[in-house]
Amino acid sequence: MREALLRWFADHGRDLPWRGTYTPYDVWISEIMLQQTQMERGVSYFRRWMKRFPDLASLAAASEEEVLHAWEGLGYYSRARNLLAAARRIRDAHGGIFPRELADIAALPGVGPYTTAAIASIAFEQPVACVDANVERVIARVFDVDAPVKNKDAAARIAALAREWLPPAQARAHNQAMMELGALICGRKPRCEACPLADFCLSRHLGIVHERPVPGRKADTVLLDVVTGVLRHEGRVFVQKRCDRGAWGGLWEFPGGRVEPGEEPRQAVVREHHEETGFAVQVSEEYGIIRHGYTTYRVTLHCFGVALTAADGPKDADGLPVPPVLTAASAYRWVSPRELQALAMPAAHRKLADRLFAAGAAPLQGRLF
Ligand code: ADE
Repeated sequence: MREALLRWFADHGRDLPWRGTYTPYDVWISEIMLQQTQMERGVSYFRRWMKRFPDLASLAAASEEEVLHAWEGLGYYSRARNLLAAARRIRDAHGGIFPRELADIAALPGVGPYTTAAIASIAFEQPVACVDANVERVIARVFDVDAPVKNKDAAARIAALAREWLPPAQARAHNQAMMELGALICGRKPRCEACPLADFCLSRHLGIVHERPVPGRKADTVLLDVVTGVLRHEGRVFVQKRCDRGAWGGLWEFPGGRVEPGEEPRQAVVREHHEETGFAVQVSEEYGIIRHGYTTYRVTLHCFGVALTAADGPKDADGLPVPPVLTAASAYRWVSPRELQALAMPAAHRKLADRLFAAGAAPLQGRLF
């Protein structure tokens, strides 16, 4: 089984940009990017990232702003903030050299057990097995694991089987071959006719490949109605920087939030703007709806243009209104449409900003979506 798998990988493994040199930095960045991201998208972000931050030193020297901007669109922004924190830790605590001890790798911000195993084996050829969702599926099928893979006993069995299967001197190739097989052959719709392990596969022998892995309980999707309001004043746009915690921490956005039960979206945007900034605003335009799906959420974002009802409060040095309070953000700016392009924003806000100012400086009017 080991040999059949390795032979198949040598012949069919994809030519991915970090496969070649296997520098620890490249392996680490690729692994973090590929979490929750499709391979094709991961590869394109990886190439761009390496042009901007080619090594640990350049990443450690970057600002959070630059790193979030390079990450924009990948989602789960804590991953980007952790990359920066880890690069600085490696610079300050490890002399700028990527650590090879398992405990040191595992101690880096944003690096969990899977990523530790991936870096240790793929970058450093250490004999540890990687178990991601692809590997779980392969093992559940080959060994006919008859409980959902997240079930405690099943997970322990899969981990033990993964360890036994690993050829200790070829962890790099083996782990990647397992993931590659799960991605290319043993996917949700298995292609057993092309599988190098077909002769060894217990569930194939039993005719139950389609019943493995045993499905687990599906997490319910949460539907969220959210509003956002683009406040413009004398050619500038109001944006705020979200506080560091949470999914979009550190990103720039237009103020907004959830629609409360019994509330209309237009009422919600006025209320949220006031709660988050202290500004009194009224709705001036209705731009329409952007829908966005996340792992367990489906967000309906109602987008509005808003205007200040009274602009006679305190002003900053440029004569622009100073918000009385910021309750959801650590900073704010009044930016030009051009400056807006350079800010890291959550995907739906980016879509709104791009559409609104598509024609250059003059914002579009009326419905956009
Ligand atoms: N998914 C995560 N890491 C991978 C790798 N090195 N090869 C293939 N798929 C992966």
